[in-house]
Amino acid sequence: MPVTALVSAKSCGVTASALALTLASKRLSLLAECDPAGGTIRAGFLQGHVTAGYGLYHLAKAERTSPDALANAFANHLWPLDEAGHRKLLAGLTDPAQAAALGRTWPALSEVLHVLAEEAGYDVFIDAGRIALEAGSLHTTLTPAPVIHQADLVLLVVRGTEQSLTLARHVIGPLRAELAEYGSGADALALLLIKDGPRRAHQVAEALETPVLAALPWDPDTANYLTNAGRPPRGYGRSPLLRHARTATEQFEAAASRRSIQQQYPPRSANPQLAGVLQRLTEKAGGVRG
Ligand SMILES: Nc1ncnc2c1ncn2[C@@H]1O[C@H](COP(=O)(O)OP(=O)(O)O)[C@@H](O)[C@H]1O
Ligand SMILES: [Mg+2]
Repeated sequence: MPVTALVSAKSCGVTASALALTLASKRLSLLAECDPAGGTIRAGFLQGHVTAGYGLYHLAKAERTSPDALANAFANHLWPLDEAGHRKLLAGLTDPAQAAALGRTWPALSEVLHVLAEEAGYDVFIDAGRIALEAGSLHTTLTPAPVIHQADLVLLVVRGTEQSLTLARHVIGPLRAELAEYGSGADALALLLIKDGPRRAHQVAEALETPVLAALPWDPDTANYLTNAGRPPRGYGRSPLLRHARTATEQFEAAASRRSIQQQYPPRSANPQLAGVLQRLTEKAGGVRG
């Protein structure tokens, strides 16, 4: 299954969309909250239930002790998003100041996420936050650049409004160039449209000269629940946002497999340290809460 990174030019629904996709996927799924500006799901959707002992920052600390410690610690830092533990969250930073310490963590984390996607069949979503540029390239502290480079699909989340398109226009060129140079190619980039505003998908694609891979409906009740929790809205499980998110995960899977067939990637070299990741995840099936 693909590793899909979601980014924005300016806050516009990355976290809510990433959560909707993770909750709606038909497969095992994982959301890695890698926004260097800090994670919002802990205090939002999970209402503070994830204790401070879990999450991304602990993996960064582990990674500094030894190269394979991150892979060893990974399964212990996931939080179940459902009873069965089929949907998992790697909760993000609680303090943006921690981001500076993550430079070395991103490549190791990316490798683990790809093992999970390719060998355990997980739909992996990455909340990579807002794109920040530095001399035309991805900012090394304010973005999780290595994770974005290595993603199978990078989706720029936009709304169908003039304001959203105006800002998105400026990050498309630099993102394409980065993915061509350090990633799997410029065509890893596509758009995820949130249907807010007058512009239709074909107009958005034309304006930004980038394909719209999927669209999510404007659904304030469900989005608000995913952002702030509280009581789920009536018919939440069959809400427009979750139903379209489910369709979107299929569209991503199809697009990623088309790309990998075209590109014929050489198989990733098997890293023995990573073999244990899968085993520990299987042992942990049913959740890690405790
Ligand atoms: N599909 C949607 N329909 C309605 N509101 C949405 C949708 N997606 C996001 N929102 C709202 O937009 C705001 C920003 O969303 P969020 O996911 O936190 O953005 P980001 O992670 O890009 O900063 C939140 O109030 C959220 O509820
Ligand atoms: Mg966010």
